[in-house]
Amino acid sequence: MPGSKPKFYLTTPIYYTNGLPHIGHTYTTVVADAIRRYKRMRGYEVVMTTGTDEHGVNVERAAQKAGIPESEYVARMAVAWKALWDELGIPADEFIRTTDIQHVRTVQWLFKLCRENGYVYKGIYTGQYCIYDNAFVTEAKPGDNCPDCGRPTETVTEENYYFKLSAFQKPLLDFYKRNPAFIQPETRKNEIISFVEGGLKDLSITRTTVRWGIPVPGEEPHVFYVWFDALTAYLSAVGGPEYEKRGFWPCDLHLVGKDIIRFHAVYWPAFLMAAMLPVPRQVWAHGWFLMDASKMSKSKGNVVLPRPIANMLGMDAMRYFLMREVVFGQDGNFSYDALVTRYNSDLANGLGNLASRTAAMIEKSFGGKIPKPGPRLPQDEALAKAVSETIGEALDRFEKFEFARSLEAIWAAIASADKYLTSEQPWALGDSEADTQRKATILWTTAELLRVVTVLAHPVLPESTAKVWTLLGQPGRVSAVELDGLRWGQLAAGAQLGRAQALFPRVDKQEAIERIEAMANEELNPTQPPAPAAAPAPVATTGGAAAAPAPEKIGIEDFTKVEMRVGQIKTAERIVGADKLLKLTVDIGTEIRQICAGIAQFYEPEKLIGRKVAVVVNLAPRKLRGVESNGMIVAASVGPEGRPVLAGFPDEDVEIGARLK
Ligand code: MSP
Repeated sequence: MPGSKPKFYLTTPIYYTNGLPHIGHTYTTVVADAIRRYKRMRGYEVVMTTGTDEHGVNVERAAQKAGIPESEYVARMAVAWKALWDELGIPADEFIRTTDIQHVRTVQWLFKLCRENGYVYKGIYTGQYCIYDNAFVTEAKPGDNCPDCGRPTETVTEENYYFKLSAFQKPLLDFYKRNPAFIQPETRKNEIISFVEGGLKDLSITRTTVRWGIPVPGEEPHVFYVWFDALTAYLSAVGGPEYEKRGFWPCDLHLVGKDIIRFHAVYWPAFLMAAMLPVPRQVWAHGWFLMDASKMSKSKGNVVLPRPIANMLGMDAMRYFLMREVVFGQDGNFSYDALVTRYNSDLANGLGNLASRTAAMIEKSFGGKIPKPGPRLPQDEALAKAVSETIGEALDRFEKFEFARSLEAIWAAIASADKYLTSEQPWALGDSEADTQRKATILWTTAELLRVVTVLAHPVLPESTAKVWTLLGQPGRVSAVELDGLRWGQLAAGAQLGRAQALFPRVDKQEAIERIEAMANEELNPTQPPAPAAAPAPVATTGGAAAAPAPEKIGIEDFTKVEMRVGQIKTAERIVGADKLLKLTVDIGTEIRQICAGIAQFYEPEKLIGRKVAVVVNLAPRKLRGVESNGMIVAASVGPEGRPVLAGFPDEDVEIGARLK
């Protein structure tokens, strides 16, 4: 019955708009998405929020550098962030921007409540401020660098509104005691408790030296301090002043990086307590992904971008790596080498291989129908028992956010299936009745194990497990399976296997790394304008501020700059690791060109051979997914998903190389 489900609300931080997402931001968002999927499979109605933190001096400066108004700058950046999360299959249920009107009203309302309750006063502040972290550095003297980021602090003197944070020392400590799970993991909790025990200073929550912020009503030119503004986004996203109507507040889980735990575990509950609003249930701080042992930053030139990895190995591979490689809560190193090694060993040789060989054996011996198992031998019973235990362990670990351990348990089950097949050797059995029955038991057991691991791994590997679900001929969607009801033995015999789809084709490590790096390089230093219609279009990646708006009409002289000719497709093949792209060779009359086209999901390569198409021939060469493309095939983009339909010449016999005018 809709409405009767328990509710679960989780958030990622809202990200700064003066940069674009790297693997660190992707990590938090991926984990949030996996928890969302897991909670849904446990029967919850879930809302996940992410968004963009759009105010402050950094944005003022970035917009100025780009030569555009702040509002335009942040609008472009918000589009780029949102589009990337959508493209990577990790969209928010609520994407909140701090320039949204509902957010502005919520911040002003929260301030009013804090003020009415006596927790706000006016005072003069002089001190050092770090504009990069948006934080006062109380211990710094003029000329000192910020102890967190190492960049210079600035001296600020201004009349501000202060929040009486000092009044919340005891209420916060009492709150932590009453809610021992509020701050996780334990190490962070101890850190925060000793910070609060050390005494809390009142906090300036408005600025007059910053222009680009939410105005304090009736107190202009005061604008709100970015953290008072940003934290409130969590509440604005689910109704703001009307939060009770939606029923998602208090928030169940704020996922944050360890760098911003203090804002979430000290300031935020204090603001809410002052306003007499419910306080969130949990703040979970994870560690950092480091590159060569230091934090990623564009200025250091060591950022890892998510899109090239998703394009080369698939989004599931990236999700798996992020959640498997590092203990949630601790720091970890990111390396392409480790990523591709895990891809080949755990995904291609592990899950992918088990799925394809199980399906192939059932196809061969039982015409693609899941066989009815015969009598069970002790080894079948032992496997069943072990997998039943895996269900309990994997879920228990996931519930505690021990993602790596949960995945380890699931992959141990996959390894035990491989071992079981090696020792039982179903392929060596003959066609006698007894042998066929034994084969049926072995293959049913293997398929059942595959079904169980598919369900358990779904929150982390949503795309590929959906494919395995189809392959196993299972009803409905894997995401609809209720985890609480998952048991060994539920695989029905007689189901017809579905379509086999490529899961995780093995890749050559060196080549894969080179391709990822080439794509990342292209994204960081674009040599071309955004991609054409028949190729996947990347979102702007350079601060979103570079491209000038196109004029509405162009003269014929502009059109004639585009040289389009009739071409004939000679060869067409898929590209490993790029499931949307086909590599074509096309005869354009004067030469044969290699062209990549983003049509692989809609056109079978074999059926394209000999087809005549319209080709833009004077486009500068570019690399798509690391493969050179020299020209562009023209296609219509149809429907909301932009299905490509190739422009062609069905009625006339046109000459290859003829110019389109
Ligand atoms: N805008 C603030 C958050 C306001 S929330 C009310 C902010 N934004 S941020 O763009 O700097 O993103 C911060 C978050 O991104 C971190 O807390 C963390 O979740 C994630 N990460 C950024 N770099 C990271 C790594 N290298 N590794 C892991 N996560 C990191 O702070």
